[in-house]
Amino acid sequence: MRLLVAPDYTALSEAAAELVLNALHAKPNLTLGLPTGETPIGMYNALVRRYRAEHLDFSQVRTFNLDEYLGVGLAHPNSYHSYMRERFFDHVNIPMVNQHIPDGSPGIDAAVECEKYESAIRDNGGIDLLIAGIGANGHIAFNEPGSPLDSRTRAVDLSPETIANAGRSFHDKSAVPRRAITMGVASILEARRILLLASGAHKADAVRRALDGPVAESAPASALQLHPRVIVLVDEAARGA
Ligand code: PGA
Repeated sequence: MRLLVAPDYTALSEAAAELVLNALHAKPNLTLGLPTGETPIGMYNALVRRYRAEHLDFSQVRTFNLDEYLGVGLAHPNSYHSYMRERFFDHVNIPMVNQHIPDGSPGIDAAVECEKYESAIRDNGGIDLLIAGIGANGHIAFNEPGSPLDSRTRAVDLSPETIANAGRSFHDKSAVPRRAITMGVASILEARRILLLASGAHKADAVRRALDGPVAESAPASALQLHPRVIVLVDEAARGA
């Protein structure tokens, strides 16, 4: 794994956007794996800003998000569908038909949805560049500690820590999801390149375990050590001492 340390969150966000745009320049019909959460917000802002300023063309780009809450409708303000529209898709020219996010709507047959999602990635020819965050508990996408390294896209229970984090942004606390659909660890490792982003001192321990710890299901992001082309882009705080 290649470690890049940015001085702060702004620099990390700009560097992440630069890596994405370099990949797009090399391959206009790039397929991206995309994260949600706090960490990538600056990267999406930078991408939108540069898309406008540099008159970039994303019309051939295809995207697959890493995860979505289960039991949350697509139009719910806290769904990852809403997040992606607000942060990115509403502002660039990626055709809607090229945008993929698991559907976690109430009543969905999650097993069918997960199988469809894996097929869609396969039929697309795989993911060129997958961008992911890391949880303070070491999760990658919603592969919580204990997730099998050979796991595929599936419905999972969220950890108490993840539920508590999600709860901070849900106005209606009774609506905080307990489950999600996530790409599996093995699905993530099939991407041709991976960019892991981490910002803040609360991520330092998880980053250290991902980079230097044993590859273990107790620290799902450590599985990235098994991949030949991973960049870990962190800010000074997430790098730790
Ligand atoms: P965050 O989440 O960017 O909101 O910290 C990252 C993650 O949990 O994967």
